[in-house]
Amino acid sequence: MSQTAPLHYKTDVREQYEELPYPYRDPEKEGDSFMSCDPISLTGLCHTGWAGMRDLRKGVRILIAGCGTGDAAVLYGEELLGTDSEIIALDLSSKSIEIAQARLKKRGLSNVTFHHISILDAPDAGLGEFDLIDCSGVLHHLPDPDAGLAALAKMLKADGMMSIMVYAQYGRYSVYLVQELMRKLMHANMTRQEKIELTQSFLNNVPEGHWITVNNSLFLEDIRFPDGSGLYDLFLHSTDRAYTVPQIYDWVEGAGLMIHQFYSSMADESLYTPESYNSDPKLTAIFKEKSTRERQEIAELMNGNIARHFFSASKEPKILAQFADDMVITYGPMQWLFTHLLAPFISALEGAQLGDRVSGNPRPFDLSPPLHITKTRHVIALMHAIDGKRSIGTIIADIAKASGDTPEQVRRDFELLYNEYRARQIVFLRHESIPPYKTGRDIIARMKAHQTK
Ligand SMILES: C[S@@+](CC[C@H](N)C(=O)[O-])C[C@H]1O[C@@H](n2cnc3c(N)ncnc32)[C@H](O)[C@@H]1O
Repeated sequence: MSQTAPLHYKTDVREQYEELPYPYRDPEKEGDSFMSCDPISLTGLCHTGWAGMRDLRKGVRILIAGCGTGDAAVLYGEELLGTDSEIIALDLSSKSIEIAQARLKKRGLSNVTFHHISILDAPDAGLGEFDLIDCSGVLHHLPDPDAGLAALAKMLKADGMMSIMVYAQYGRYSVYLVQELMRKLMHANMTRQEKIELTQSFLNNVPEGHWITVNNSLFLEDIRFPDGSGLYDLFLHSTDRAYTVPQIYDWVEGAGLMIHQFYSSMADESLYTPESYNSDPKLTAIFKEKSTRERQEIAELMNGNIARHFFSASKEPKILAQFADDMVITYGPMQWLFTHLLAPFISALEGAQLGDRVSGNPRPFDLSPPLHITKTRHVIALMHAIDGKRSIGTIIADIAKASGDTPEQVRRDFELLYNEYRARQIVFLRHESIPPYKTGRDIIARMKAHQTK
C-alpha cells in the first residue's frame, strides 16, 4: 500500500469503514467460490465499452475507486493475471484495504496496487488516466457526490468508460423508513455495536406489512453479515443519498459525461425497458414514442422496486458490440450458471410448437422480468451451439449444413434468439480475433492449483 493518507473526506464515513469494513469478507475463506457480476467482467466490459473489438488484457489501466474489501480487485486481479494491464485500487479505509490485500495474497495475486487516499485526492496523486474506472457503492456516501464524480471524470481517458453503482431512491423506500426510525431511537453517545443491536431488536419483530418485510430480499445479504457491517451500512450510515433515473442523467451530464447503459446487479438491462413490464398495445404504443431517457424513467417507475442503479458512462459516445458473422457469442464468466439455468428452457422448447414462446426467470435470485424464448426451427440447436468459442458465422454454417436449411434461415433464428438473450444481458460478444476471457471455472481452477502448491 502506498504510504499516503487521505486528505479530503468526512470523518464519520472514514471511521465507520475503519471499524466496520464493507462488505464483510473473511480472507481465510478466500477462494472457496467465485461469483462475478458479469457486466463488470472483462467479457462484459469489452462488449459494452469497446464494441467487442478490444483485447482488454493488453495495456489497459483500471482504477477501482473505493475498493472496499476487494471484490473488484479480486475479479480484475484474476482476469488480468500475467498480462501487462495495470490495476490500481484506492479507499478511504486502511482496514478495508488490509482485508483486500489479504484476500489477494491468499490467491497468490500481486498485480493490484493499493492507495490509501480519498477519491477527492486522487486526481492530484499522480495516478494518471484510466481506460476503466469502477466505482460501486461509493459516490452516494460522499457529502458532495458531484465533486467525487468530477474527480473521477478528470482521470478518465477520452475513450475510457466508468462503471458506477449508486443507490436508487424508490427501491430503498423501506431502508429510509428504518434509517429515520433509528435516528429517533438512538442517542448520541451510543457505540456502533449498541446501535447495531438496537436495529437488530427492531428487525427481530418487524410488524407485518412494514415495507422492509415486502422487499427485504434486496437487502438480505447485508443484514446477514456476522459483524453487523451490512446492517450499519444499510440502516445507520451518516451519509447516504439515492437517485432516480432523471437525477442520474442530470448528475452525470453535469460532470461532462454521458450515460451509456443501465443494467442491474446481475446485468439485466430489461429492468430499464418498459415493455418488460407490460405488453398492453395501448401502453407499448406510448413507450415507442419516448426517448431512451424517458423510457428508462418510465421503466423505473413501472418496476417500483429498483434499489441500486448500475450504469456505464463515458466522455465519448460508445457503440455496443453488434451481431455479425465474425463475432463470438459468450455467456460471460458465469457461463456454467447460465448453462444450468437455461436447461429448463431447452426442455420446454422441445415440447413447444413453432412460434410458441417459452417464458421464465433464468435468474431466480433477482427481481428481473421474465425471459421469453421463441420456438423457431433452429433455436434448440443454437442454444446448444453457443460455446464462447465458435464464431456466429461458423455456427450458422454448421447448423445450415446439418439441417439442410439455408444459412439465411438459420441466421434469422439466431438473431431472434440473440436479441432475446441480449435484452436480458445473458450473452456478450467479442471479435473472433480476441482470445476468450477467463470464465469463473478457469478462475476457480487456478485458485485451487495455487492452494495445492
Ligand atoms: C459500501 S463500500 C463499497 C465497497 C466496494 N466498492 C464494493 O462494492 O464492494 C464503500 C467504500 O467506499 C469507501 N469510501 C467512502 N468515501 C470514500 C472516499 N471519499 N474516497 C475513497 N473511498 C471512499 C469506503 O471506505 C468503503 O470502503
